[in-house]
Amino acid sequence: MSFPIVRNRRLRGTAAIRNLVRENQVTVHDLVQPVFVTEGSDVKSEISSMPGVFHLSLDHRLEEEIKEITELGIQAILLFGVPDHKDSVGTSAFEENGIVQRATKRIKELNPNLLIIADTCLCQFTDTGHCGIIHHHPITGQADVANDPSLELLAKAAVSQAKAGADIIAPSNMMDGYVHAIRTALDEEGYEHVPIMAYSVKYASAYYGPFRDAAHSAPQFGDRKTYQMDPANGREALREAESDVIEGADFLMVKPALAYMDVIRMLKDNFDLPVVAYNVSAEYSMIKAAAIQGWVDEKAIVMETMTSFKRAGADIILTYFAKDIARWLRGGN
Ligand code: PBG
Ligand code: ZN
Repeated sequence: MSFPIVRNRRLRGTAAIRNLVRENQVTVHDLVQPVFVTEGSDVKSEISSMPGVFHLSLDHRLEEEIKEITELGIQAILLFGVPDHKDSVGTSAFEENGIVQRATKRIKELNPNLLIIADTCLCQFTDTGHCGIIHHHPITGQADVANDPSLELLAKAAVSQAKAGADIIAPSNMMDGYVHAIRTALDEEGYEHVPIMAYSVKYASAYYGPFRDAAHSAPQFGDRKTYQMDPANGREALREAESDVIEGADFLMVKPALAYMDVIRMLKDNFDLPVVAYNVSAEYSMIKAAAIQGWVDEKAIVMETMTSFKRAGADIILTYFAKDIARWLRGGN
C-alpha cells in the first residue's frame, strides 16, 4: 500500500530512458533555410534586425552560402530575391533574367540536389510593396489589392521560377484562387510535376517586421489586412486550408508559427498533406536579441522551440536557424 499510485517519473529517470520514450525529434531533413539574394557584386550585408542573416550577391558570396548549407546536410532552401527595380506590376518578379531566376540557375549549377523552394509573391517587386496590383474601390475610392488581375501576374512569376529550375513553388500572396491559378499555369507549361507549397494560413502579423526590412517589401500605404488573416481567427484557417487542398496544394503552411501552434495542430488533424511551420523573422530576432544579451541559452531555447513545432504537428520547419540547428545536431557549437 503506497501513495502516489501513478509514478510518471519512472520514465524520466535517466537520459537513456528519456531517449527511449521521446515522442518527437528534429532532424536536419525537417529543415529549410531561407536565403536572400540581391544584385551587385561581392555583397554580404547583414540584415540589421536579423543578426546572422545576410543579403548575398550572385557570385562567390552565394557560392559560399550554398556550400555551407550543402555541407551541413540541409536539403532545401527558401529563396527570396531583392531586385534593383520595382514597378506597379512587379515586372522583375517574372523576368527571365530576374534576380530569383538567375539565382535559381546558379544554385542548380552549384548543387543540383538542393531543393529550391521559390517564394512566389509580388511585394518585393512592386513599388507599392503590396502582394498584388492595386485598384481603387469604385465608390469609396479605397485602394486595395485587386484579386483576379494579381493572379495572372503571380502565375507568370511561378512559371518563370519553374522554368529557371525551382523545385517547389511557394506562393505567399494570400489571394483567393491562387493555388488554382498557379497550378493551371504550371500544368499548361509542362511543369505538372512541380509541387505547390501553399502559404495556406498566413496571418496579418507584426512578426514579419524584420523580414520586411530584409526584403524591402513593407507596404507603402495601408497594411495587408484585406488579404492576410486576422490573428483572432482559428476556424477560418480550416476554410483557407480546404480551398488550397481543393485547388491542388501539395503542402499546407502555417505562418507565423510560434503564436499559432493551435493552428498547426488543427491542420495536422484535419488534412493529410504535409504541414509546414514558418518560424518567421521576428521569432528569430527575438531569440537572437535575448541570446546576444546573454539572457537566454540560444541553443537550448531554439531546440525546445523546434521540437515544440514538431509536437504541434509540423512536418517541415522553415527557419532562419536552420544552419545553426544542423550544426548543433552534429554536436557542434
Ligand atoms: C511576402 C512574404 C513575407 C514573408 C514571407 N514572404 C512578408 C509579408 O507578407 O509581409 C515573411 C517572412 C518572415 O517574416 O520571416 N509575401
Ligand atoms: Zn507578398
